[in-house]
Amino acid sequence: KDSKVNQNLLEDFSFINYKNNLENVNIVRKRLGRPLTYAEKILYGHLDKPHEQDIERGVSYLKLRPDRVACQDATAQMAILQFMSAGLPQVAKPVTVHCDHLIQAQVGGEKDLKRAVDLNKEVYDFLASASAKYNIGFWKPGSGIIHQIVLENYAFPGALIIGTDSHTPNAGGLGQLAIGVGGADAVDVMSDLPWELKAPKILGVKLTGRMNGWTSPKDIILKLAGITTVKGGTGKIVEYFGEGVDTFSATGMGTICNMGAEIGATTSVFPFNKSMVDYLNATKRNKIADFGKVYQDDLLSADKNCEYDEVIELDLATLEPYINGPFTPDLATPISKMKEVAVKNNWPLEVKVGLIGSCTNSSYEDMSRSASIIKDASEHGLKAKSIFTVTPGSEQIRATIERDGQLKTFQEFGGIVLANACGPCIGQWDRQDIKKGDKNTIVSSYNRNFTSRNDGNPDTHAFVASPEVVTAMAIAGDLRFNPITDTLKGKDGKEFKLKAPFGNGLPERGYDPGENTYQAPPKDRSSVEVMVSPTSDRLQLLSPFEAWNGKDAKDMPILIKALGKTTTDHISMAGPWLKYRGHLENISNNYMIGAINAENKKANSVRNVYTGEYKGVPDTARDYRDQGIKWVVIGDENFGEGSSREHAALEPRFLGAFAIITKSFARIHETNLKKQGLLPLNFKNPADYDKISPDDRIDIVDLKDLAPGKNVKMVVHPKDGPAFDVELTHTFNDEQIEWFKAGSALNKIKQDKVQ
Ligand code: F3S
Repeated sequence: KDSKVNQNLLEDFSFINYKNNLENVNIVRKRLGRPLTYAEKILYGHLDKPHEQDIERGVSYLKLRPDRVACQDATAQMAILQFMSAGLPQVAKPVTVHCDHLIQAQVGGEKDLKRAVDLNKEVYDFLASASAKYNIGFWKPGSGIIHQIVLENYAFPGALIIGTDSHTPNAGGLGQLAIGVGGADAVDVMSDLPWELKAPKILGVKLTGRMNGWTSPKDIILKLAGITTVKGGTGKIVEYFGEGVDTFSATGMGTICNMGAEIGATTSVFPFNKSMVDYLNATKRNKIADFGKVYQDDLLSADKNCEYDEVIELDLATLEPYINGPFTPDLATPISKMKEVAVKNNWPLEVKVGLIGSCTNSSYEDMSRSASIIKDASEHGLKAKSIFTVTPGSEQIRATIERDGQLKTFQEFGGIVLANACGPCIGQWDRQDIKKGDKNTIVSSYNRNFTSRNDGNPDTHAFVASPEVVTAMAIAGDLRFNPITDTLKGKDGKEFKLKAPFGNGLPERGYDPGENTYQAPPKDRSSVEVMVSPTSDRLQLLSPFEAWNGKDAKDMPILIKALGKTTTDHISMAGPWLKYRGHLENISNNYMIGAINAENKKANSVRNVYTGEYKGVPDTARDYRDQGIKWVVIGDENFGEGSSREHAALEPRFLGAFAIITKSFARIHETNLKKQGLLPLNFKNPADYDKISPDDRIDIVDLKDLAPGKNVKMVVHPKDGPAFDVELTHTFNDEQIEWFKAGSALNKIKQDKVQ
């Protein structure tokens, strides 16, 4: 039990900590006096302070110490830039960066990759050099999709990892808790701060029976999404149990966990089992598999009689394939009903494109089963009726299916093999077969199908299904086709039924690693220079924010009094702005441009209180900042709800804000503001919001006495009329007050390290 086992084959500095995790679990079990679910064991095994931590599912905030961090290239940029500004010599926990989101699908893998490497050179150069400098493993463009690489190399049972991407939960297929987070959380872990998570509730899904025929693991999550809806998993971990969990492959479990993101779940997990052992062995991690067996009963499974907050039961034997969509992943239609439902809803019946692969469904098994269907159709002389694309999840998968023949089968059938990257799944798709505005249907084995996600066309009806069903649809070219009951006409004019798919879960001859696309950090990193061009418009080094000057803030203008819903999208819009996510100055030009000004009910139009001139919000903020004037924002309820985008907190800080005062905050945004050294404050009496007029001036006083639980005084100076006081509340704890004083959480870390 005391063995020292490496987390993976690529790092000689990261180890599996089962012994310590188990000690923590035992402490917590004793304190709570009840059996624990598997997800709870992983979480509580990673508590920062298991003796003291409040633990109530759905209520407490847990402080956790994850085993590692994974970042994709779009979100890694600002995370690493922030980390760099703390001045630490290397990341505190193992971190990897994966180049997968910026590669556009145009004509096919090789050419598309080459073009992306040219186009994104400065981003890749920065990520590669910063990774080398700070001891981060770097996966070059072409290596594959983050979640597939994590599953193949880094995931291990009982681990807790965070990743800056929503489908990080994919690694639950190897029995770990893998949670998607924003960049700010990644920075915490990289710089050795405990990471905070609201103790999730646990939704148990009991699987009974065994799948057969055309049904595959994807159908479990498609069916579940139909039951729970897209919100049903919010604040919950989905934990699978029951004898059904031992009836399919680890990669199949990965698919199910991956798409748990579509029901809003914090993450999803399967208990350690034989399929995981097989997968670990197939990926040359026998030592981890053996170590897992030693801890299987104590740590890597649920306690007997543990209690779930709710339980859903699914019988796999009677489960049929599902097709979910269009426009939302929880609109679940069993394949037997699709004919009537599609016609009734007037969905376009012709399937224009079938897309298989992506991080959700590109395992060896998925590829083999899809290839078996195509072989069958090809033997009857058929080719794809729809455009058919294949996205291998990793270079290892691509090389293995090239060696074993599935790739050739796809190509001969008319399939286009795209780069090992996200491609059409994230809208990186130069689609040519239709015009924008054309109503049409596509079917993919991906996970998300929100309006416009794949091709930017709001009239594209995108459905998600298993790769097997997508392949069958691409052969028939019709959304109504049910391969279980319907026949196709072969070249010889005879009707035939497709055989049910079959294929190995793991390659008999082992995986072929393909081209080596990994860059390990060098041992001596002292001479590595991080590459950021000073003229770049996509990347900009961050300077630390200045520390609080110890004085009260007086006579501050209100930049904007925001009316109604103000989400992180209103605060820092996405879309075209994502290009600038590594350049704080440029992306700050979107600050609050979507918020509604209470004064004139317009977006991005505020009055400079000194000049009377109306300008955009970011321009006005800059004018104030450049004159050394601090400002505040007044906000409505649940300010900053939505994604955990850290730019929504970085931008106001960069533009000179001092405090954001609202009726209430979304908690993650509130914490992000604190991390950047801002003061998020709440009206004690929400009705005071109405007393504030956009041209009032604001003092925030007695800040020297800022203390947990102690209210803060704001003095409001109306343009005409006497000043009045407003009482504000806050949620700062002692540690967070130090962040404010130091100018940011990272400044505080830096101070502590220097001392
Ligand atoms: Fe990429 Fe789509 Fe997965 S964007 S990470 S392939 S969900």
